[in-house]
Amino acid sequence: MGLVESAVDDALYFGVLLALFLRWCISLYPYSGAGKPPMFGDYEAQRHWMEITVNLPVEDWYKNTTKNDLLYWGLDYPPLTAYHSLLCGYVAKWINSSWTELFWSRGLETYHHKLFMRATVAVADILVYFPPVILYWIFCKHPSRPRDKAICATLMLLVPGLILIDHGHFQYNCVSLGLTLWAILFLSQGYDLLGAAFFVFALNYKHMELYHALPFFCYLLGTCNRKKFLEGILKVLLLGAVVIGTTALCWAPFLTKLDTSLQVLRRLFPFDRGLYEDKVANFWCALSVAVKLKSRFSIPSLAYISGFTTMIAMIPSSLHLLARPTLQGFKISSLFPLLLKDGLVIPFFCLLLLYLVIVFKAYGHMSLGFRDGWKQRVKTLMFVFSVTGCGILTVVHLAVAPPSRYPDLHPVLNCLYSFSHYLMFTVYFHKLQFCATDESITAKEQFTKLKIFPSSCSSKTKLKVE
Ligand SMILES: *[C@@H]1O[C@H](CO)[C@@H](O)[C@H](O)[C@H]1NC(C)=O
Ligand SMILES: *[C@@H]1O[C@H](CO)[C@@H](O)[C@H](O)[C@H]1NC(C)=O
Repeated sequence: MGLVESAVDDALYFGVLLALFLRWCISLYPYSGAGKPPMFGDYEAQRHWMEITVNLPVEDWYKNTTKNDLLYWGLDYPPLTAYHSLLCGYVAKWINSSWTELFWSRGLETYHHKLFMRATVAVADILVYFPPVILYWIFCKHPSRPRDKAICATLMLLVPGLILIDHGHFQYNCVSLGLTLWAILFLSQGYDLLGAAFFVFALNYKHMELYHALPFFCYLLGTCNRKKFLEGILKVLLLGAVVIGTTALCWAPFLTKLDTSLQVLRRLFPFDRGLYEDKVANFWCALSVAVKLKSRFSIPSLAYISGFTTMIAMIPSSLHLLARPTLQGFKISSLFPLLLKDGLVIPFFCLLLLYLVIVFKAYGHMSLGFRDGWKQRVKTLMFVFSVTGCGILTVVHLAVAPPSRYPDLHPVLNCLYSFSHYLMFTVYFHKLQFCATDESITAKEQFTKLKIFPSSCSSKTKLKVE
């Protein structure tokens, strides 16, 4: 009791309120594509999906018809996103029917509509992303001090990349990330089937989550491998049933005709569209500076190469998970891209570091296991170098025009810089994963013994509300 009460102490209340406040502040800024006809940006894309889903029958959502021009922000996210759009679309229509009127509502930009759109993100964030973050740290064994748990939860609520992209730029990443966190929360409590179901939900909200699919798959398979033969087989079958059942549930309206389902798949994986859409930091962008890949291979074969190398790069950590499915190992190989994937554009990365500086300053006593002497100093030094590099790049980007021969110089520099960080963190997290201990298994046993979840879960949430 005492632990629970102090775990949800003032620090956590403060963190949640600060996270909400910062989100609403950012939402006052312009969104992606504001005042930029004829295509506008992500904000208009999301609004357009509300218009399409509210007005057209389900089987036409992903199809090019006279009423649905796919060249104008055609729906290219999985079904759960479409259902979310439908839900928001109904609310929009109820508030002001002109907001979802077919064709006429394109490029709508009014104060009240912006307020509505911002509110939909805030609601999704609070309902889907906040609860697993808070619950995860309340249940988590490390760090043991309640105060540190509150700080860790606050840090995860303040991830600048997430705040900036969702509440500034305009996206609903909080939903797919939140669903993935629910999945991790369930796994960490030993509810593997629920975890698998929620990860499938996340995949069916945003297929970018496929990047995390291999660790999930290997972790779950590894837990089956640890059981006795028959029990293991049974678990594999159960997991398969859950995955197939959940997917079928999400896709149900599109499964009536083979043609319709194939059309949705073609929209989700458009191999003809190219890999360079945004100059985010990934291997391809960095490599393309040295090798002009694009001109050497056709786009579809590039997509295969990209998929293949992503798999290869994941193999060591996945095999390790398969052999030793410790929860700590699992969290490291999934949580890390989770936090970095969307925050890799350099201004976001800078803000992330700056926020870390601020938060580390504010909570000076926080122990994250960085106590030991020279290692601590090396880390601090690298941290300072990294932030300085960020600052220099940003200032140069803002102040110096790129040479006319290389108009893309700044994005490419950002890309290389971010990629070097990505590489460093990959090495670092692989090291952490391989050194992770087996103690989480006993933690899991303890949790099941104490039956902390879910029976007292509700009482804990109640406590928090009081
Ligand atoms: C979709 O249809 C529109 C006309 O309604 C056409 O201009 C456009 O090229 C089509 N797009 C695709 C991707 O087929
Ligand atoms: C509905 O929105 C339109 C803008 O699309 C605006 O002109 C109109 O005044 C709004 N109606 C109401 C009742 O607020």
